[in-house]
Amino acid sequence: MSDKATLEINGEKYEFPIVVGSENEVAIDIKALRGSTGGVITIDPGYKNTGSCESAITFLDGEKGILRYRGYSIEELAEKADFLEVAYLLIFGELPTQEELDQFHTDIKKHAVVDDDIKKILDAFPKSAHPMGVLASLTSALTAFNPTSVNVDSDEEMYNAIVRILGKFPILVAWTMRKKHGMPLDYGSTSLGYVENILHMMFKRPDEEYTQNPILVNALDKLLILHADHEQNCSTSTVRITGSSHAGLFVSLSAGISALWGPLHGGANQAVLEMLEAIKEDGGDTKKYMSKAKDKEDPFRLMGFGHRVYKNFDPRAKIIKVAADDVLSDLGVQDPILDIAKGLEKEALEDPYFVDRKLYPNVDFYSGIIYRGMGIPTEMFTVMFALGRLPGWISQWKEMRTRKEPIGRPRQLYTGETYRPFKDITNR
Ligand code: ACO
Repeated sequence: MSDKATLEINGEKYEFPIVVGSENEVAIDIKALRGSTGGVITIDPGYKNTGSCESAITFLDGEKGILRYRGYSIEELAEKADFLEVAYLLIFGELPTQEELDQFHTDIKKHAVVDDDIKKILDAFPKSAHPMGVLASLTSALTAFNPTSVNVDSDEEMYNAIVRILGKFPILVAWTMRKKHGMPLDYGSTSLGYVENILHMMFKRPDEEYTQNPILVNALDKLLILHADHEQNCSTSTVRITGSSHAGLFVSLSAGISALWGPLHGGANQAVLEMLEAIKEDGGDTKKYMSKAKDKEDPFRLMGFGHRVYKNFDPRAKIIKVAADDVLSDLGVQDPILDIAKGLEKEALEDPYFVDRKLYPNVDFYSGIIYRGMGIPTEMFTVMFALGRLPGWISQWKEMRTRKEPIGRPRQLYTGETYRPFKDITNR
């Protein structure tokens, strides 16, 4: 392959280097484009063709359905590792030794407490507030209670900021749910594993012991691993671009949480369940909703289907589908919503509209179903996604800061009015 790409504008030729990634992905390096052409830019709404950075964290190939964290396949990680190991791998680049993992967990546990005044902020929210809004606010508020900025050149300061947020975030997650359901707030137990403690903090009732169910612990562990990173998606790009102004880690994460909330991104798992509920309320006619999804005059989309990057299958969806079947049969869950989900899945996989456009069930189609089986309320689904994505966001923020990336500042093609003289208010 040639190592240069040539661009011709108005008869003038410009050459740009071709760069190749470690998985042979090819990119044209246009850093010099504006300077050499006298101001020409590229335009690519939605960034479908634009790489915003170089990254050594996650590789995915949407055509082949490959997803790897730091070179390890998602299938192997989901089967053999636990969430904390995967978090360590994403953030520090290598799988931890047992000693490193134990130390990491001990350090996280030291920070598994939040300032009690955070409860006052939580109290001020109405019970009707969506947990994602509450979580974004509380995560941002953590900055006020931990105001020291991180010196990104210090490994120690970086490490401390990381274990601090990994310790505090699950508490905020659990509290958003407990607040909504009028449950007293709880700090969990440091004697438990990271994921066990999350379940404990979410579900422990004040009047009874919480008994861990290994099926639920395993399913949640898997779900968190599957969501832990996904390279430069909307929320991760938001975290990186927010941090690129040298805003701190916690506020950058808060911005990522807000970006994740939307139904075209992390909000899809909630939207899937709401869609299934609506279909059930409407008599369970899946064919009617398939027609709506295909009707270009109708804004309805089949939630949980399609993906910007995976155009053959979502490897996470494959893993989670098996886990969903296991969890639901182990727990003996009988749920008409699941029958509707299975019906829609079958019809869509056979329908030329979906097949031709390569629209397959994505990870969110199944994750919502498992969360429902686990007794997690629908409005918490996207919060659970945020909990899983936390290590990915941290590692991407860390990579962006340690590589000293410049502030993210895209250009635009202006299409508004050209100069016009100001009109006095009486002449408008
Ligand atoms: N239902 C019906 N039609 C769909 C759907 C859907 N879920 N998704 C895409 N299409 C159609 C579009 O109408 C379009 O049709 P056309 O070519 O006839 O105009 C074609 O498929 C391509 O769709 P785009 O919107 O261009 O695809 P894009 O890659 O931009 O969007 C997205 C991907 C946003 C995920 C989209 O498929 C969607 O809205 N899905 C539903 C929401 C969802 O499940 N989001 C979760 C994503 S996974 C995650 O965030 C973890």
